[in-house]
Amino acid sequence: MNEVESKIAIVTGAIRGIGKATSSRFKREGITVIETDILPDQDRNDTYEESQSDFKNQFLVHDVTEEKSWKEVVGQVLNRFGKIDILVNNAGIGTLSDFEEEDEKGWETMLSVNSKSIWLGIKSVLPSMKEQKSGSIVNVSSIFGASGGFGKSASYHASKGAVSALTRNAAVRYAANNIRINTVSPGFIKVLREEKAIENAGDKMSREIIFRTPMGRWGNASEVASAIHFLAGPESSYITGAELFVDGGWMAA
Ligand SMILES: NC(=O)c1ccc[n+]([C@@H]2O[C@H](COP(=O)([O-])OP(=O)(O)OC[C@H]3O[C@@H](n4cnc5c(N)ncnc54)[C@H](O)[C@@H]3O)[C@@H](O)[C@H]2O)c1
Repeated sequence: MNEVESKIAIVTGAIRGIGKATSSRFKREGITVIETDILPDQDRNDTYEESQSDFKNQFLVHDVTEEKSWKEVVGQVLNRFGKIDILVNNAGIGTLSDFEEEDEKGWETMLSVNSKSIWLGIKSVLPSMKEQKSGSIVNVSSIFGASGGFGKSASYHASKGAVSALTRNAAVRYAANNIRINTVSPGFIKVLREEKAIENAGDKMSREIIFRTPMGRWGNASEVASAIHFLAGPESSYITGAELFVDGGWMAA
């Protein structure tokens, strides 16, 4: 498959966790992936990799909270590949702070990284997707955008609720342009950051997670990547504005 035949995807927050798993899954399926993250990938150069023979392995430093940074990333991808078929808005941050512990600065950062970024991402790829009359955008939200969780992490809940609402709004707006926009909302997924946060929160929370998850276990990043791949690709061609929970049954309980 050459560059022209291959689907071109941008995956944000892609150096680890769910983003990394998604990128790996896409690459296995023959999709060309531009991985972006605010952290430089230590295993690679922190700038565009120029190797023609390894074009499936691109990495760009990217701050998803800044429109300027989005313009740079989208501009570079369009220069190189001439199109963007898929955007996965995955980058995000979390907190386990109690409601009254949170401060204004933390709230604003959370909303900026988790919600504003989704709007900026969609806005940035729209011109090219509209022109090519196709596109698929998958936004990564959370079960905490749709449930009260543990009564903690207020800013996180608000930020993820916004992702789901924005997805539905944008899906309606751009359906006629043949641009599909969906959400994948994970439950508790084994990635280093999440495991550490839960470990710090103590045994009670770890036990409660297992107890409240009907399937009785954490999910794996690859299980979320499968759902993202499904919604990103042609198998979901009549699905837009949907929210797919990958949560071992948490939302059904
Ligand atoms: N792991 C879980 O249990 C879980 C559950 C529900 C939702 N999620 C969501 O899944 C997504 C991925 O999370 P993860 O668990 O893989 O976490 P992670 O911390 O392993 O990965 C998130 C990535 O986003 C990057 N990032 C943070 N701020 C950024 C910015 N301003 N610009 C660009 N990149 C930035 C980080 O550097 C990191 O590489 C997030 O949106 C998260 O809220 C995760």
